[in-house]
Amino acid sequence: MMRILFISYLTILTFNNVNCSRILALFPHTGKSHHMVFEPLLKTLIERGHNVTVASIFPVNVPPEKITEISLKGIAEEGVETIDLAEYSERNVFLRLIGLDDIVQQIECLSVLADMALDTCTKLMNWPTLKKALRNEYDVVLVENFNTDCMLGLLHVYEIKAPVIALLSSYLMPWSAERIGLTENFSYMPVLTSAFKNPNTFIERLESTVMNYYFKFWYRYAIQIKEQEIIEKYFGRKIVDLNDLAKNTTLMMMNTFHSLNGVKPLLPGLVEVGGMHVDETKKYIPPYIEKFLNESEHGVILLSFGSLIKTSTIPKYKEEIIIRVLSKFKQRVIWKYEDSDEEGTLVGNILKVRWIPQYELLKHKKVLAFIGHGGLLGMTEAVSVGKPMVVVPFYGDQPTNAAAAASIGFAKKISYADINDDTLFEAVQSVLSAEMRLSARLVSKMWHDRQSKPLDTAVYWVERVIRWGHKDPLHSPARDLNFIQLSLLDVGAALAVILIVLVLILKAILLLILRVIKVSFNVNVKEKKH
Ligand SMILES: *[C@@H]1O[C@H](CO)[C@@H](O)[C@H](O)[C@H]1NC(C)=O
Ligand SMILES: *[C@@H]1O[C@H](CO)[C@@H](O)[C@H](O)[C@H]1NC(C)=O
Ligand SMILES: *[C@@H]1O[C@H](CO)[C@@H](O)[C@H](O)[C@H]1NC(C)=O
Ligand SMILES: *[C@@H]1O[C@H](CO)[C@@H](O)[C@H](O)[C@H]1NC(C)=O
Repeated sequence: MMRILFISYLTILTFNNVNCSRILALFPHTGKSHHMVFEPLLKTLIERGHNVTVASIFPVNVPPEKITEISLKGIAEEGVETIDLAEYSERNVFLRLIGLDDIVQQIECLSVLADMALDTCTKLMNWPTLKKALRNEYDVVLVENFNTDCMLGLLHVYEIKAPVIALLSSYLMPWSAERIGLTENFSYMPVLTSAFKNPNTFIERLESTVMNYYFKFWYRYAIQIKEQEIIEKYFGRKIVDLNDLAKNTTLMMMNTFHSLNGVKPLLPGLVEVGGMHVDETKKYIPPYIEKFLNESEHGVILLSFGSLIKTSTIPKYKEEIIIRVLSKFKQRVIWKYEDSDEEGTLVGNILKVRWIPQYELLKHKKVLAFIGHGGLLGMTEAVSVGKPMVVVPFYGDQPTNAAAAASIGFAKKISYADINDDTLFEAVQSVLSAEMRLSARLVSKMWHDRQSKPLDTAVYWVERVIRWGHKDPLHSPARDLNFIQLSLLDVGAALAVILIVLVLILKAILLLILRVIKVSFNVNVKEKKH
């Protein structure tokens, strides 16, 4: 008897224990920064004993025997230092004047993602190592939710029924919310690419509504339907609509946290794990950088425009403004600038270096402030250590990140086109002020104050989905309603009809009563006359 009890106890234990589950992770996007958000999660899942298979352009930094890697290297150009700053200096003056430059920039910024997605999707159809991996079984699948649903189509074709977790390296894309049944309301929710934190004015609400519908429409017709065609052509048969497959997502995890990114509605299946990529293990600081830090009397300002922008493409006059302004401060400056000497190039108080261990430097007590482009990774790192920022946003979610950080007293926002001696000086001076540094530390404390660390949260949710999968849905029932049902148009119409019928009946009754009165009145009058 004891023995049977013991065995069934063991069975229950093993059932709930998800060590060594089979995890498939599919990250076809070429942006290095996206990979940097997901890598720590993969590493931790591997450390916890799971059997992880990863398809990605960038290798995961673990011993090869611990992981099955499907290299997508060569599928597309890697997104590292590919953005030319000259493009941002020569904006159309007319568009700027009539205030549409920002809108055009948002559309341009996303439109390059379509060609990228279709090209990658075509190549993925016949990627032998991926095909081989898709023939195995898995307990859960992690897929990046960004500019493609090609992988969802492949999962369907290869009949992988495991629950799908979507990972986002930022906030939701305009086409993401409906996958988990989140009903958006553009009256207060911005699009990812907008320049504000939340729409406030009429114009901003107009913009967020129009842009949201435009991007949803664009994604459907410029990407999703074309990917569907690519898949159907390759396999020679019809498949389920990619949008329906997308609406089978079990869980979504976003690289945001409300203290920094602002409050937006959540669901059980929509989880914030902002800060998951921040790696506290000590990193190497090259001695020439450390020496420069050590010898600074008044502290150091860090300047970096991230991994995607090629800083050395900055136009000469802009570079001169930056150097002129920063040389007015008694603080030293470390600038990530590709075309520098091996041991850095010193220009007055500015040290230009090819590469920086960014988080390690931000943590350094000599570093006082950070001038960056508002990419979510760098901004998250700055929040984590409580160092205030000057944000010069360029594309994507950077403008809205900058607006959010400015609104909580963590940053000063200054647009790249508006950089001149005065604006830059003012911005840098204000982030070096005692108030701003205090405020940044406060924001940092709030940002850290959570039930569990973001990486632990992410691991917990992945394992929870492995444990219960489709049995314990996390999406909102709104996901299964169509537009008419969701906006209660049918109910509204029915109520309107009932109201109209009631009014008509009431009117008929009133008319009837009036007639009766009239008739009796007439009778009375007649009687009186007689
Ligand atoms: C991990 O999964 C892969 C693919 O399913 C399989 O080939 C491999 O043998 C597994 N490794 C272990 C240690 O179970
Ligand atoms: C947004 O919310 C308001 C107030 O609840 C509602 O009247 C409106 O219909 C909503 N808009 C959308 C697009 O859901
Ligand atoms: C969505 O997931 C459910 C649960 O596993 C499954 O029964 C259904 O077939 C899936 N729908 C599509 C369109 O794949
Ligand atoms: C910088 O200062 C730290 C602590 O004072 C010291 O340990 C380190 O060796 C110094 N590094 C250099 C390159 O001077």
